[in-house]
Amino acid sequence: MKPPGCWKMLTVAVCMAFLACLQAQELQGHVSIILLGATGDLAKKYLWQGLFQLYLDEVGKGYSFSFHGAALTSTKQGQELIAKVLESLSCPEDMEPGRCAELKGQFQRLSQYRHLKTNEDYMALSKDIEAQLQHEGLREAGRIFYFSVPPFAYADIARSINSSCRPGPGAWLRVVLEKPFGHDYVSAQQLATELGSFFQEEEMYRVDHYLGKQAVAQILPFRDQNRKALDGLWNRHHVERVEIIMKETVDAEGRTSFYEEYGVIRDVLQNHLTEVLTLVAMELPYNISSSKAVLQHKLQAFQALRGLQKGSAVLGQYQAYSRQVRREQQKPDSFYSLTPTFAGILVHVDNLRWEGVPFILMSGKALDERVGYIRILFRNQAYCAQNEKRWVVDQSQCLPRQIIFYIGHGELGSPAVLVSRNLFRPSLPSKSWKEVEGRPGLHLFGRPISDYYAYSPVREQDAYSVLISHIFHGRKDSFITTENLLASWVFWTPLLDSLAHEVPRLYPGGAENGYLLDFEFSGAQLRFCQQQLEQLVPGPGSAPMPSNFQVLTAKYRESPLISAWPEELISKLADDIEATAVRAVRRFGEFHLALSGGSSPVPLLEQLATGHFGFPWAQTHLWLVDERCVPLWDPESNFQGLQAHLLRYIRVPYYNIHPMPVHLHQRLCAEEDQGAQMYASEISALVTNSSFDLVLLGMGTDGHTASLFPQSPAGLDGTQPVVLTRSPYKPHQRMSLSLPLINRARKVAVLVMGRVKREITMLVSRAGHEPKKWPISGVLPSSGQLVWYMDYEAFLG
Ligand code: BG6
Repeated sequence: MKPPGCWKMLTVAVCMAFLACLQAQELQGHVSIILLGATGDLAKKYLWQGLFQLYLDEVGKGYSFSFHGAALTSTKQGQELIAKVLESLSCPEDMEPGRCAELKGQFQRLSQYRHLKTNEDYMALSKDIEAQLQHEGLREAGRIFYFSVPPFAYADIARSINSSCRPGPGAWLRVVLEKPFGHDYVSAQQLATELGSFFQEEEMYRVDHYLGKQAVAQILPFRDQNRKALDGLWNRHHVERVEIIMKETVDAEGRTSFYEEYGVIRDVLQNHLTEVLTLVAMELPYNISSSKAVLQHKLQAFQALRGLQKGSAVLGQYQAYSRQVRREQQKPDSFYSLTPTFAGILVHVDNLRWEGVPFILMSGKALDERVGYIRILFRNQAYCAQNEKRWVVDQSQCLPRQIIFYIGHGELGSPAVLVSRNLFRPSLPSKSWKEVEGRPGLHLFGRPISDYYAYSPVREQDAYSVLISHIFHGRKDSFITTENLLASWVFWTPLLDSLAHEVPRLYPGGAENGYLLDFEFSGAQLRFCQQQLEQLVPGPGSAPMPSNFQVLTAKYRESPLISAWPEELISKLADDIEATAVRAVRRFGEFHLALSGGSSPVPLLEQLATGHFGFPWAQTHLWLVDERCVPLWDPESNFQGLQAHLLRYIRVPYYNIHPMPVHLHQRLCAEEDQGAQMYASEISALVTNSSFDLVLLGMGTDGHTASLFPQSPAGLDGTQPVVLTRSPYKPHQRMSLSLPLINRARKVAVLVMGRVKREITMLVSRAGHEPKKWPISGVLPSSGQLVWYMDYEAFLG
């Protein structure tokens, strides 16, 4: 028997602990968590466990909780389902079983099912929460509503919460939303606007569960804690490439109705891989625990992403996919889907840190393994004088140098951070990350695991548990803000649109894929390494293939015509321009090239930028044929197009670049500013006889060329070399070289591409010299040469 004094002390201690607990609860308050869709798959698999983990982490720290599992299921059935899920919850391995049972019992008592559908149901829920608070004398800290429901249900639920279930004054509201957040920019914006009418931005937590993966969540802390070592390395001078990869072995069977609408780019790349990309690419904020700073820096990273082109992607589809869609959606036998289940994308980040570094994003279903990682491979600029046998792992600079954030699965089987030993010894938080124990024989990314400093989490945690804890603590940087979401859609939507009718390469699935999906890149282009001749999905098929035609030379309007398939045509024109440039530089020491804007010259500029290493750029002067009256940085500006597709790749002395002065004294194309006269004087001062070596023109569907339009007399004749004109298309105000100035050129090339030009090509072929009707018909160099470059579609239809 214990002496009475002891009992007394024990009672006092228990009472004090109880009081402290009450006080703490009083201090922090009560949190109600309402899980909507509580009987669904995601909830059963991850969310209840995440909520339980939250309870385990927070119990006794001053909050009290109640958990409401809500769904449309009847109360009885719902209660049974929830009881089953709660029974299956588990505690961390290191928790003592008695303690686990006790806490699980508490959690089960705090968790209730309720049928939640109508506005009245939400009102009743709110009343019940208030009654509980009053009854137990608790102060309300906040309410979390977790939407684990399909997005079509969002608006009604949001309306009911906003009108009937907001917490009282002083308490916070957090609503947690699950993807998909739209299908493209417009739908994402609509959804965002709708939600924005019910909730404040700070109340919304859009989940991307990859941000809760331990290796992903470690990227910024790792960059922060290893600033000293990484400062000089994390940039284009040292990084050779970045790979952001999520491979899956599962396919889309059972969810083809969702997958048909989304496909791999919307399902994985637009969200998970893009989020990771921004964490790697963003400038590191001074204080990474400031959510605001992190989110701002992320947005800046989005702004630096170079727009994607069709050629930035390779697409695949596993062979059984179309069959699965037909079966699951009762489609006819003739149905073939174009939805990609595999995509490789080449991304460039156009800022001083990352210019020129390829970021490869790749994901696919039915691949040979399940694994996710981010691999930063560093350039190797060392030459090692010793024999390879004498290379020592942590000293030799010739062995590969890489940092890998291993998301999970794969050979390693768990999340990890790996740093090549010849880079530096990293610092990771020792409480949560430990060194991986030796695994003899294990090779990763071409090297034995012993070549790396390798760390894995002390306690492996599921992404949802991590995120639920972050929601509870209001850590907004782990979630997708509206701005962030829209920035991502701005980036992906044009590519998705341009790929909408692209036929993906079929692959058998699993290990049988062999090398079929390997891809390579050069410049901004990505392509499969292996050519595949047969087309397994019927495509536009019957059209003749490019190889059926040769480059064709003929006459058009009595001048030489060169016709070919687009790629060949562009190559030919680029070669001709380079030859003209080389000749001009040889003869006169300089080359004056006047370029048009618009979309036809884009592939030409890119070809010149990335495939013509002998081009005498240092002696080339670049002029504009015409310009829209917008600031030069406006995406509509022709100069901006020149900048985006040519200037940023080449080395032209900046005093050789001559944008049209459309923006003077902070106004656009004002007559009084005499911009046109200024440009004319600049030409006359620098270009001998105002005779350009080469002028590149296009032809509009209405017969316009440069910014000289039918029925608008400016620039068609007269003495003014440069004129202000009016276009029927927006932006209406333009500046243009005049026909007389164009016709002084030594050579004029007119590039005409695409089926839309077919009709005008025919009309103009028959027209005489009628510049008022067809300004292009007025192009007739007085002593120079005119050459037409037309692709087959423009020429033959
Ligand atoms: C989801 C996608 O967001 O992520 C799924 O919709 C994909 O298609 C899943 O399978 C992969 O997540 P995890 O956590 O298994 O890598």
